[in-house]
Formats: sequence, C-alpha cells, structure tokens
Amino acid sequence: MQKQHILITGGSGLIGKCLTEELLKQGYTVSHLSRGEGKDSRVKTYQWNVDRGQIDENCLSGVDTIVHLAGAGIADKRWTKKRKKILIDSRTQSIALLYDLIKRKPNLVKNIISASATGYYSNRGDELLTEDSTPAKDFLGYCCTVWEQAVDAGKELNLRIVKLRTGVVLSRRGGALPPLALPVKFGVGTALGSGKQWIPWIHIQDAVDMYLHVLENNAIQGVFNMVAPNPVTNKQLTKAVAKQLRRPYWLPNVPAFILRALLGEMSKVVLASTKVSADKIESTGFTFKYPLLADTLKQLYGK
Ligand SMILES: NC(=O)c1ccc[n+]([C@@H]2O[C@H](COP(=O)([O-])OP(=O)(O)OC[C@H]3O[C@@H](n4cnc5c(N)ncnc54)[C@H](OP(=O)(O)O)[C@@H]3O)[C@@H](O)[C@H]2O)c1
Repeated sequence: MQKQHILITGGSGLIGKCLTEELLKQGYTVSHLSRGEGKDSRVKTYQWNVDRGQIDENCLSGVDTIVHLAGAGIADKRWTKKRKKILIDSRTQSIALLYDLIKRKPNLVKNIISASATGYYSNRGDELLTEDSTPAKDFLGYCCTVWEQAVDAGKELNLRIVKLRTGVVLSRRGGALPPLALPVKFGVGTALGSGKQWIPWIHIQDAVDMYLHVLENNAIQGVFNMVAPNPVTNKQLTKAVAKQLRRPYWLPNVPAFILRALLGEMSKVVLASTKVSADKIESTGFTFKYPLLADTLKQLYGK
C-alpha cells in the first residue's frame, strides 16, 4: 500500500530531523515547510513567512498529514513582552495560515498532528498530571493553551487532530541534554534550585515512535502526554548523567534565586516541577523502548 505524504512544519528542528529520518526509512514521502531553503536534499522544502502571512500554496500538493512542529525556541531568549508574542504567534499564526490554505484547497489533508508541551501544566509540585488536569495560570500554561486552541480550530475542517504534550526530549543532537551534560563533563554539573522538581523527560526515539504511532492509528485523536512513564527529579537526572559519563557529582545546588536573576521569568523552564503521566498513550497500545532513564542515557552515550 502507498505510504502517506507528510508535510512537517519546523522539520529542520531537533524532533523534525529525527522524525524525517524515520519516516523516510519507513517509506513515507516527506516535505518540509520552513522559513529557509532547507538543507535536506531528500525532502522538498516549501517556504513560508508567518509574520507576513505568506505561504507557498503548492505545499499541500499530495499531502495526507501535517505534523506541526514549528515554533520559536522557548528557552532561547529572555521572555520580554515582544519575545512572548513571537513564542505564541510562531505556533498559532502558523497553523492558522495552514488552515486558511486548507479551506481554499479542501479534501487533501486529513490529519493534523501537532506538538504541544508539558509546559501546559507548568509548576505543579508532586501532583501527577494527566491530560484532564487544568492548565497552569502562567505564561507557559497560557502559551500552550492558545497553541492547542489554534490547532483545534482544524476540527471545523473535519480534520483528525492529535496534540502531543511533549516533555523534555533527551537527545545528543540538541534540546536540553547537551547544555545539562556540558558542566557535568567538566566535573561541575549540579542540580538546579531545590533539585526536587520533577522533569517529564522522554528519549528522542520514543518521541519519534509516538509520532509514528498516532500517525498510523486513525482511531487516535485528542491530546496525549509525550513523556516516559518514569519521571525523575532534576537532581536524579543530573546525577544519572554524571554517573553515565563517569564524572563526579559534588557541588551544592545552584540556588533558585540566582537562576531567577539570570533568566528572569524563563527560569520556570528549569525550576518548574511537572510530574506527568504516560498512562493515556500507553492505553492506546504504545510501548516505550526506553521507559527508564538509566537505559536512555546508556543508549545515548554508548556503553
Ligand atoms: N525538544 C523538546 O524538548 C520539546 C519539549 C516540549 C515541546 N517541544 C515542542 O516541539 C516542537 C518541536 O521541537 P524541537 O525541539 O524540534 O524544536 P526546534 O529544534 O527549536 O525546531 C523548531 C523549528 O521551528 C521553526 N521555527 C523557529 N522559529 C520560528 C518562527 N519564529 N516562526 C516559524 N517557525 C519557526 C524552525 O524551522 P525553520 O527554521 O525550518 O523554519 C525550527 O527548526 C516545538 O514546537 C517545541 O516547542 C519540544
């Protein structure tokens, strides 16, 4: 049977690159929608400019499913008012631009699979968070809520919609792990804040496999947490990386007030405690290859 054609927004990013690799390996056709020209010769890259409302109208040609990963980096710059608008608009205006195009070119696209983030729950202590938990009343909670609402607007176009509330994706190619591991490599890695905050991590391969799982199971729709079933605290994570890299873990924690002074409101990204359940996605038959952190780090760093 002919495999689907998948259009990925933000396909040049950490998850997009790995997902593209896997989709191509499995015989799918992949296109990217990007602000740039695209570096991967195996995929056709269409361009858009979300700020200007411009999109290459050919991007939907032959496409069955859109995977929406585009969005300005949450932890890249301090959260000024201007930056917050960029963080939101790059996720909401972008999907709205695609929906406008789908309205003009109906009966092509059938499925939308979009990233969201566990930032939806933000800082919740030891509460076990499920997909039914309420969103946080801070910027992260607001950003994820309006992002998901913008994606849900596609229901009116009779699209199957899946939203994946992504946790901290562990990969050596980018994301949170390399900057966490760097001081550890120099023997000065340590926990942040109290170190007791829960980190909803997931191995990049499981994240990619989960995209494939929801893509291939038409009965799946709605929102799912994208996290491994065994969350750890910030201190446990840092210690596990130190153990895997055979480095000492000896320094006292970096106090929360220093992180707040350095990062401002963005310190939430490292200080928030978010303990997230993986039960719902597991109940759809998804099996994690890397449910445990130690095995994940062993696989990522070798030996
Ligand atoms: N990685 C994680 O740990 C994690 C955790 C939670 C949620 N997520 C979410 O999952 C999605 C994918 O994550 P990722 O780690 O692959 O992200 P990423 O590496 O930062 O890539 C995101 C892509 O979005 C596009 N982009 C960046 N700024 C943009 C802007 N202002 N307007 C439009 N497009 C823009 C870029 O593609 P082009 O340059 O090709 O346009 C970029 O490659 C993101 O929405 C992210 O927030 C990721």
